[in-house]
Amino acid sequence: MTTRWGILATGKIAQTFARDLAVTPDAELVAVGSRRLASAEAFAAEHGGTPYGSYEELVADPAVDVVYIATPHAFHLDNARLCLEAGKHVLCEKPVTLDLADAEEMVRLAAEHDRFLMEAMWTACHPVVRALQARLRSGELGTPRHLHAELGFRVDGSPEGRMLNPALGASALLDMGIYPLTFAHLMLGPAERLRATADRSEGGIDLDVAIAGRYPGGVLATMTASMTSWSSRSASIATDRGRIHLDDFHHPARAVFTPYAEGGSNDTVERGGTLEILGEEPVVGRGYGNEIAEVGRCLRAGLRESPLVPHEQTLTILRQMDDVRAQVGVEFPA
Ligand SMILES: NC(=O)c1ccc[n+]([C@@H]2O[C@H](COP(=O)([O-])OP(=O)(O)OC[C@H]3O[C@@H](n4cnc5c(N)ncnc54)[C@H](OP(=O)(O)O)[C@@H]3O)[C@@H](O)[C@H]2O)c1
Repeated sequence: MTTRWGILATGKIAQTFARDLAVTPDAELVAVGSRRLASAEAFAAEHGGTPYGSYEELVADPAVDVVYIATPHAFHLDNARLCLEAGKHVLCEKPVTLDLADAEEMVRLAAEHDRFLMEAMWTACHPVVRALQARLRSGELGTPRHLHAELGFRVDGSPEGRMLNPALGASALLDMGIYPLTFAHLMLGPAERLRATADRSEGGIDLDVAIAGRYPGGVLATMTASMTSWSSRSASIATDRGRIHLDDFHHPARAVFTPYAEGGSNDTVERGGTLEILGEEPVVGRGYGNEIAEVGRCLRAGLRESPLVPHEQTLTILRQMDDVRAQVGVEFPA
């Protein structure tokens, strides 16, 4: 059974998503909605589907099973309400909302309308991330003690644009910091405590954020997000048996475990040989294809949430981001 997709909005990530959708088995783009018909038509000419000049017309199309929401975060709740009330399942870009209260409302709406809802947290669906999670849980890589993850790139552009405009939910934490927080959650479980510091713009946006976290078992994590610098986009996990490294940890090609010798010291280097951890299944497209496939799998199974991105995980990360924002004094305009 093919899952029939509608895409709501025609911005950057919507384009990338459509390219991955085209190479995902059992998934088809049937419609796209934009605030402007010309934009929807240009998108449809490139990627296919019926173009609509409003989001309302998109969700009224009976051919659409599930809608992918790709607007700025500040609009996600209203967009999701529109889709759910029209009887559509929803995959909503991250973060699903600006705060926990709105995310809880989105989850409530999905339950009320008995529809599937998933945060588009592609990292949690990524085969390499899932394989690493399984290996860590099995204990074969040792007991994790420290985790570090950083994500950032320099943002230039209009203060009116999505990345810098507080009215559209601009925030290094919400845009980028959500990845280190989610990665730590996937690898270590829910944080017990987070302590944060940030550098803010004159307009009050968090441009740079550093977070220190304590996780179950006394595992410690350091996580950063930046809109002013080019971060390594890497993550590492130090265990009592060695260390794990990932480049582009939010969509890694591989994870590499370097084991250390029993009784070794700071000077005695690796035991020799590294272990490359790859996924059990291929990465589809850039990796968005794996989340698209997960939604299709869930819908075919009649699920209302994905075990890879359960609602509780989405809400936990939103709760953490509310906590961090309160600590660093970042509020969104009402
Ligand atoms: N998963 C990922 O890897 C990833 C990567 C980048 C972004 N994202 C997330 O995806 C969402 C969109 O990001 P993006 O980079 O694609 O943004 P973008 O390029 O600015 O596109 C956003 C689109 O939303 C629609 N929109 C509706 N109301 C708008 C308004 N008032 N102002 C601006 N746009 C409005 C527009 O589409 P129409 O004109 O067609 O209606 C616009 O093209 C964000 O929540 C972001 O966090 C995720």
